Amino acid sequence: MSHTGTNGPLAPNNCSTCHSGAYIAVNALAKPSDHLSTTSQCDVCHKNYTTFAGAVFNHTLVTPPVAGRCSSCHGVTAKGKNSTHIPTTAQCDTCHKNTTAFAPATMSHSGTTGPITTGNCAICHNGSYVAVNALTKPSNHIPTTFPTGIPGNECSLCHRSTSDWGSERMNHGTMQTSCATCHDATSPYLGNMFKINRSRHNNAGTKDCSSSGCHKPLGKFGSAYSKWN
Ligand code: HEC
Ligand code: HEC
Ligand code: HEC
Ligand code: HEC
Ligand code: HEC
Ligand code: HEC
Ligand code: HEC
Repeated sequence: MSHTGTNGPLAPNNCSTCHSGAYIAVNALAKPSDHLSTTSQCDVCHKNYTTFAGAVFNHTLVTPPVAGRCSSCHGVTAKGKNSTHIPTTAQCDTCHKNTTAFAPATMSHSGTTGPITTGNCAICHNGSYVAVNALTKPSNHIPTTFPTGIPGNECSLCHRSTSDWGSERMNHGTMQTSCATCHDATSPYLGNMFKINRSRHNNAGTKDCSSSGCHKPLGKFGSAYSKWN
């Protein structure tokens, strides 16, 4: 077989006339079934007539364009997510903004694909992905599964910002008792809550703020979870 000549089907950009599968019987190979996904002519990447191995791949020359379809190759025929990757089903270029290296990524919390919807923050911010900077609760974080009535562990119940954990909005849920867990002066927990030394506060002693009958919701003073008086 001679590939020289510039006429007829042997001109550049015509490789697929023969390398399409129709002439495999005479050894003109076609793309194997696990070939990377492209409709470009063969000679965009295959630069010789002796072997299809050692292709020269270039993201900018591929048809159709790669934007928005990274995963048609990555995770199939090209490098996929590493085993410690954050769980996501979003398209790679939502967070990976270049084609030379996957790190660093530009994390995007926007979008509704995959776990990034309100109510799912803890899927990533549970401590498993601290290595890629998805922080988890510090050890002096307020408890989120007690006292009874507190809304639970999911971060978005109290946190709205995806850039700053310090701008939380406390959510007391339906708590009625054990307020002192967080509001006693000895409480070790982070937060801007009012903390009081009960032995010097109206003889409160060891009584609780609310179930003592003093402060709302069970007591008479203030308004529940927003004002003490
Ligand atoms: C007119 C048909 C025809 C065209 C057009 C053609 N080839 Fe081929 N090509 C063949 C045939 C037939 C063989 C097998 C030759 C053999 O085994 O002796 C072959 C062999 C090859 C091989 C060796 C691997 C194999 O398939 O056996 C490569 C690589 C190759 N061609 C690349 C190209 C490239 C790149 C183009 C476009 C620039 C191209 N060919 C265009 C017919 C064609
Ligand atoms: C956008 C680039 C690109 C285009 C266009 C392309 N290929 Fe490939 N092809 C590759 C890459 C990358 C590989 C991986 C194999 C390697 O480089 O060793 C490959 C592998 C192959 C292989 C297996 C080689 C081997 O030894 O494992 C065959 C056969 C092949 N291509 C045929 C074709 C044919 C026929 C066309 C045109 C109809 C084509 N390719 C178009 C990039 C391309
Ligand atoms: C048509 C197939 C294809 C598409 C689509 C594609 N890539 Fe690639 N990409 C490759 C191949 C082939 C390589 C080189 C070999 C490999 O890494 O497996 C590569 C390499 C890379 C690398 C370098 C990997 C490394 O660690 O060396 C990055 C980063 C990358 N691609 C990002 C992207 C992004 C982001 C998109 C979407 C905008 C994308 N790619 C779309 C096929 C593709
Ligand atoms: C929602 C955002 C997001 C999406 C979508 C995403 N990634 Fe990532 N990826 C990241 C973050 C964050 C890192 C950690 C980067 C770092 O270490 O700086 C990462 C790291 C990686 C790494 C490891 C890089 C290294 O060298 O440590 C690979 C490989 C990777 N991603 C591939 C992919 C592929 C392939 C896809 C699409 C199938 C994808 N990612 C989709 C956010 C994302
Ligand atoms: C799919 C995994 C994933 C989900 C789901 C997710 N995040 Fe993140 N988040 C990350 C990663 C990775 C970073 C680190 C980004 C960086 O440093 O570039 C991050 C960073 C942050 C930061 C900046 C401080 C830090 O931890 O580095 C805040 C705040 C944050 N996320 C809040 C949220 C909230 C609130 C939600 C739920 C609405 C959420 N995240 C859901 C992966 C996730
Ligand atoms: C019931 C409400 C609540 C829930 C649920 C909650 N947090 Fe918090 N978080 C807070 C409060 C209150 C603070 C104190 C904020 C401050 O520093 O002013 C805080 C602080 C933090 C801080 C430290 C911020 C700083 O300024 O140092 C991090 C990190 C954090 N939370 C992460 C999380 C993560 C991750 C989750 C989910 C797994 C979560 N939180 C769930 C209420 C909550
Ligand atoms: C798990 C910890 C926790 C418990 C338990 C708790 N709170 Fe709070 N509370 C907070 C935090 C944190 C804030 C600060 C809110 C902010 O800055 O957004 C707060 C704020 C308040 C405020 C607004 C004034 C202030 O102190 O900043 C009132 C009133 C309040 N809580 C009442 C109660 C009552 C009554 C109970 C018991 C029924 C209770 N809290 C139980 C953590 C808690």
